[in-house]
Amino acid sequence: MSENSRSSMHGQWSSRWVFVLAATGSAVGLGNIWKFPYIAGENGGGAFVLVYLLCIAVIGLPVMIAEVMVGRRGRQSPVNTMKVLSKEEGRSRLWPLLGWSGVLAGFLILSYYSVIAGWALNYVIEMASGTFNSSSAGEVKTVFEDLLSDPLKLTIWHTLFIVATMVVVARGVRGGLEKAVMLLMPALFVLLIILLGYAMNSGAFMQGLAFLFTPDFSALTGKGVLIAMGHAFFTLSLGMGAIMVYGSYMRKEDSIARTSIMIVIADTVVALIAGMAIFPIVFANGLEPGAGPGLVFQTLPLAFGQMTGGLFFGTLFFILLLFAAWSSSISLIEPAVTWLVENRNMKRRTASIVCGVATWALGMGTVLSFNLWAEVKLFDMTFFELLDFLTANIMLPLSGLFIALFAGWAMSRESKLHEMATRHLFAFNGWNFLLKYVTPLAVTVVFLQSIGLLEQLIEKLS
Ligand code: TRP
Repeated sequence: MSENSRSSMHGQWSSRWVFVLAATGSAVGLGNIWKFPYIAGENGGGAFVLVYLLCIAVIGLPVMIAEVMVGRRGRQSPVNTMKVLSKEEGRSRLWPLLGWSGVLAGFLILSYYSVIAGWALNYVIEMASGTFNSSSAGEVKTVFEDLLSDPLKLTIWHTLFIVATMVVVARGVRGGLEKAVMLLMPALFVLLIILLGYAMNSGAFMQGLAFLFTPDFSALTGKGVLIAMGHAFFTLSLGMGAIMVYGSYMRKEDSIARTSIMIVIADTVVALIAGMAIFPIVFANGLEPGAGPGLVFQTLPLAFGQMTGGLFFGTLFFILLLFAAWSSSISLIEPAVTWLVENRNMKRRTASIVCGVATWALGMGTVLSFNLWAEVKLFDMTFFELLDFLTANIMLPLSGLFIALFAGWAMSRESKLHEMATRHLFAFNGWNFLLKYVTPLAVTVVFLQSIGLLEQLIEKLS
């Protein structure tokens, strides 16, 4: 089969906009609003944010373009896409392993992602019932801690979220995905702007901005740099085939580079606005920027509890956060589901149920890591922390590195030019250069420095 006659058995997007919306729906999620602010807070702010932005530009964007391109050329699940393309290019038969690691990473991430999304679900209810009306910072914190110490509650929300995800996945790309994202993404954006307006009047806006944007490199550790890079992959949904699968549903005539740039900008803007809304509230109330995974849940309810119309806006905010998480979680499990459909001859419905049950079971480990298993640690990390570290900071960058190597070195220039169908040769060459040299080098250097190897090496040489 030539690459021109290839089309995806799972359907195709109805227009370019739907691809942009779905990919943005995948990228914008808990990573932007929950994770980015808290890891920025834990790693000292400004310098961390700078490294993160740098990683987005020199690693994230080129890899995103590469993933979309590979996906559209292969038009199958990531595993089979890598099979077809590596054969077509006459390359090693080990490349499909890359698809495999993606399936695994997506499954692992979803297992804890769903638990955190469950928190948001809980907060919709708390918000709507007025729990936070003129609450103090201490009271808001207690609500959060009570939630984490209650395994039953966490399990119920986690279960509901997994079921909701699987219902959409079972209905397929066109039926389920398209419609959900179109309205909700813009609405979330508007609410973030409202929150930003509140933060501006909180009295500590400048302090919040200074924290986020004044780099203090003494506050940044080697591990912090690794976390910043890992987050660049996480927030853009890269390194596990999610964007590859979405690319496989993309129409031939749409520009890959232009759409990728739009997605990257949208994702970054949302994260930065979330940070700019949250940190002023942190400082205005004397809270701790390094509060950890609870940061959003301990700051925003405080703001909503004080603002006029806070009951309405607060409830709406957590509903929208939930939808943002929903559209991301769908993409986390899509590679596994498409693979089961293609290779195990399963119906989409059956495949969704199988994936759902497995993810749910693993997610119970994360549920318990916040209470009964809080003291059970490996490498000084709880189950949740370990899973997060392993996926976001090791698996995604590693797969991203190999995607860059595949697109940069294993694919011929002709195949790439043909798929990109661009007239801008200069930009094409620039992208190709980034993929071949800059991205692999940058990822390797970050890995090495984070384990302190580079320092030792330099010491030996001098
Ligand atoms: N990008 C999403 C977020 O920021 C999470 C996500 C969805 C993801 N699909 C992914 C992360 C694939 C890594 C890989 O919340």
